[in-house]
Amino acid sequence: MTSVKKIVVLKGDYIGPEIMTAGLAVLEAATKDTTFAYELIDAPFGGDGIDRAGDPLPQSTIDVSKQADAVLLSAIGGPKWDNAPRRPEQGLLEIRSKLNLFANIRPTKVTQAQIDRSPLKPEYVKNTDFVIVRELTSGAYFGKPRKLEAHQAIDTMYYSEEEVTRIMHQGFKMAQKRNKHVTIVDKSNVLATSKFWRKIANEVGKSYPDVTIDYYYVDAMTMAIMSKPATFDVVIIPNLFGDILSDEAAQITGSIGQIPSMSVGESGPNLYEPIHGSAPDIAGQGIANPISMVNTVAMMLAESFDEKRIADKITAAVDYIIENHYVTPDMGGTMTTGEVTQKMVDYIKNYE
Ligand code: NAI
Ligand code: MG
Repeated sequence: MTSVKKIVVLKGDYIGPEIMTAGLAVLEAATKDTTFAYELIDAPFGGDGIDRAGDPLPQSTIDVSKQADAVLLSAIGGPKWDNAPRRPEQGLLEIRSKLNLFANIRPTKVTQAQIDRSPLKPEYVKNTDFVIVRELTSGAYFGKPRKLEAHQAIDTMYYSEEEVTRIMHQGFKMAQKRNKHVTIVDKSNVLATSKFWRKIANEVGKSYPDVTIDYYYVDAMTMAIMSKPATFDVVIIPNLFGDILSDEAAQITGSIGQIPSMSVGESGPNLYEPIHGSAPDIAGQGIANPISMVNTVAMMLAESFDEKRIADKITAAVDYIIENHYVTPDMGGTMTTGEVTQKMVDYIKNYE
């Protein structure tokens, strides 16, 4: 008997519910006639949390999320809540900390179908398939002291041994399941935290003798992911540098409307979400690109539930719509969110 997996659904704001509907339709189609059984638990969060429960992260949402097998989020925020006492985005920072999600993982993959949409030349981008493992709960964004005064300002970059060690294990473990190659990114020629980062990478690396390690300073890395993106597999990077580099990497695929992410903790559920925001500028028009949410669902199936075959089926549906140009305006197409979703569902129904 397989157990029924509990998935908390945070449907989000503006285009959030539009793409969540698409993602769940594809999930339903892809899991039909399989042994994978799931239960969806709707919970208020973000602007929707403010509207339905008076807070962007109600305690009830924290409680159900902690009990769940995975948390699926679309995107939150937007001008409707500009004057709210606690903004929707506050809920996002808090849920990451309540679930102790210390690593944020973003894939950059360019399939044959996507190659023409990349701003890079095909010969550079061909076979690109890497993930960025970004430390999420420490580093420059959380270090103390932090001060803004009239004539001086201070930020602090801080890392503990425990924080660096656990992110390294996360990255090395992922590499073992992928192409067994880790790239450590830092600025160890200048920063103490980066020297520390590199030293611990070396030590942790010894427990993974099948994984090769190389090292890049972050400035050199910004060039390398443009000039030879296909040479990377797993990139392990501190919070601040990872914020910047992961946005740069997203552009390699040609559209932020395609990219999923997951945030991982030591125990408890992972949180899955597209990398983009709630796109208030296009909400309500039925033109939001559902691919990011659909890829997010596939990532959840593969990573939290080990359902690689179902995930592959979904990825094949995404390739199919891109190849046939059944896409929304942000990718140069003329289709609506609903039409694109239906094309994927139909493809999955006939998938062998
Ligand atoms: P955004 O990512 O929402 O939009 C940037 C641009 O990309 C817009 O032109 C938008 O139309 C387009 N875009 C994004 N996703 C798309 C999709 N699936 N299909 C087609 N086009 C798409 O970033 P923006 O405008 O800076 O932020 C809007 C709101 O989202 C803000 O309230 C912001 O705080 C919030 N936000 C939420 C995030 C989250 O939920 N994790 C992440 C980033 C921003
Ligand atoms: Mg960012």
